[in-house]
Amino acid sequence: MDDVQHAYPIFLDLHGQACLVVGGGRVADRRVRRLIDSGARVTLVSPRATRVIRQLHERGELTYVARAYLRGDLAGHNLVLLATDDESVHEQVFQDRLDEGRPILINDAMRPTRGDFTVPALHREGALSVAVSTGGLMPRLAAAVSAEVGRLFGQTAAALLRRYRTWKTTVMPRHRSGAGAVRALRRAVDQRLLEAFRSGDLARVATTLERAEKLSLLEGKHTRPGSAPPPRPGPSQAGTVYLVGAGPGDPGLLTIKGREVLRSAGAVVYDRLIDAAVLELAPPWAELAPVGKAPGRQCMSQEAINQRLKELAGSHEVVVRLKGGDPFLLGRGGEEADFLQAEGIPYEVVPGVSAAVAVPAYAGIPLTHRAWASSVAISTAHPVCADGTPRPIAVPEADTLVYLMGLGNLPAVVEALRSEGKTPDTPVAVVSMGTTVNQQVVTAPLEAIVEEVRRAGLRPPAVIVVGEVVRFADRLRWFRSGGAEAFPVDETSPAKGRTTPKATESARAG
Ligand SMILES: C[S@@+](CC[C@H](N)C(=O)[O-])C[C@H]1O[C@@H](n2cnc3c(N)ncnc32)[C@H](O)[C@@H]1O
Repeated sequence: MDDVQHAYPIFLDLHGQACLVVGGGRVADRRVRRLIDSGARVTLVSPRATRVIRQLHERGELTYVARAYLRGDLAGHNLVLLATDDESVHEQVFQDRLDEGRPILINDAMRPTRGDFTVPALHREGALSVAVSTGGLMPRLAAAVSAEVGRLFGQTAAALLRRYRTWKTTVMPRHRSGAGAVRALRRAVDQRLLEAFRSGDLARVATTLERAEKLSLLEGKHTRPGSAPPPRPGPSQAGTVYLVGAGPGDPGLLTIKGREVLRSAGAVVYDRLIDAAVLELAPPWAELAPVGKAPGRQCMSQEAINQRLKELAGSHEVVVRLKGGDPFLLGRGGEEADFLQAEGIPYEVVPGVSAAVAVPAYAGIPLTHRAWASSVAISTAHPVCADGTPRPIAVPEADTLVYLMGLGNLPAVVEALRSEGKTPDTPVAVVSMGTTVNQQVVTAPLEAIVEEVRRAGLRPPAVIVVGEVVRFADRLRWFRSGGAEAFPVDETSPAKGRTTPKATESARAG
């Protein structure tokens, strides 16, 4: 990590504030224009000044004092920008500040580290300001980055902000509901607008706002003061169902988009394995509907889950269907999307980090490696037909095989692998409760894995990984909350360098 002391970035409101600029060259010229743009009252002191500065003075936009800096010039100013090429003048100003004995913020263009603040590179478009700093290290790079960000997003963001300002100032005040409901409405609108913005489609931004305006007026008529529930669509409208992947366990693996959708949820339909920290992101009034399988409890049927989604979409603007890992990977997300499509209910998919890749990664197992594996196949260890009848476990032709839903079916997985020709010494890993503080990893050759897993007492959920890459688990043990058990390695193994074959004793690191 870079050893950088970051400055605290702020945007100052300088409207009507008296600011002093010392110096009259090109740097002062740039500084002055930005200060005027921010509404500051500027006095500039310098024996010489650029043509632009003199013109600004003539137009009454600043006060130009055509002489060298004098000690008394600091009086009445709380912000000073030094932009001369005379070191002694700058030193004099710092000395005078001490004598003044009051806080005056100084920027020193000659030696940025001596001053109290630096001036970032800026791209401005409408209400949008993109300020970039390299900590004074490479101002040209900062300018290039802010300009590039502005080029990529500036126009759309500025257009969105223009429309949003109108919405906030004209439509929101007509809203008669309580402050909580207004906040919730704003959040829901923000969420949709951000998504429209990300699509880069100005027309979508416009239609999203139009819809928000209509909805807002509707809500304003019907909600009572003091009530705090989030906005609900009318009978003819359907809310949108977001099929969101929550990742495999570590709440940090939720995507930014997933988090934003959750924050505006009116209802959350979630699986049992979802971490409480993820659920807490939903607003306090959001309806929480658990539908996952819990020990000793009957699992809700897919049909019942679909009906619940439909029902909630009729009464909430944003419904989040929160699923473990990725919604479209062995998670029935496809079936739910298919149902919503058939019912004409708007839906969007927010992909998640799948257990199939994240759990091996947290166990130090790279699913591919140029020297050892160039293909991966992900399968269920519990395959069933659409009518629920079991199907044979697949053994695809890939260098690395990943099985989900396999702990209870481990002997059958081993049997399938053996009958498809995998040798008894094929490396296998079983990772239980991956990416969480309870992660446990057991590695063993195919012939011993069932016994080792039984001995370690692993609990579901677990991912099974088969292939040479499993040998890395011992060497790449980076996740300290879990433990990888050592797999015997030989000279030609990918984990070359480890020499002591260890028994498979439990090795949970703290
Ligand atoms: C119904 S599948 C859903 C998979 C999910 N859609 C995904 O992309 O991760 C559930 C299986 O994912 C695996 N799984 C989910 N979370 C896990 C975790 N934290 N540790 C190990 N395996 C996990 C297990 O194999 C579990 O049986």
